[in-house]
Amino acid sequence: MRRTGPHWRLTVTAAIVAGLVFGGFALAQAPWLAPAGEKGKKNPLPADKASLDLGRKVAETNCVPCHGNHYRGDGPAAVALNPVACLTGRPGPGPRSP
Ligand code: HEC
Repeated sequence: MRRTGPHWRLTVTAAIVAGLVFGGFALAQAPWLAPAGEKGKKNPLPADKASLDLGRKVAETNCVPCHGNHYRGDGPAAVALNPVACLTGRPGPGPRSP
């Protein structure tokens, strides 16, 4: 018996899509561990005023829009984000950053 009907193709397509979707969830849940060779690396930059000022500028441009001024996950670009982008370790966004 030949299986060329549309139902057979639909079943195979649905199985492939389900595999990709649920396989993706399984991978996303796996804990990420830093490779051993990278784990012991030291920051090559000194924690002086120049590097701290530069880091603050980079964070203000690239991170604050979502993470907010106090990294509570309440930046203007985080309105529709789920999960929230809170970096304080506390569950949920804190009070709005000033
Ligand atoms: C487009 C919005 C957005 C921007 C911009 C952004 N983040 Fe995030 N970030 C998130 C969201 C949302 C999460 C939470 C993701 C999750 O829990 O799955 C997150 C999570 C994180 C985490 C993990 C926190 C944890 O507890 O696991 C770190 C660290 C982080 N961001 C750092 C940064 C840094 C540093 C920058 C700037 C270089 C940045 N993010 C820019 C949205 C953003």
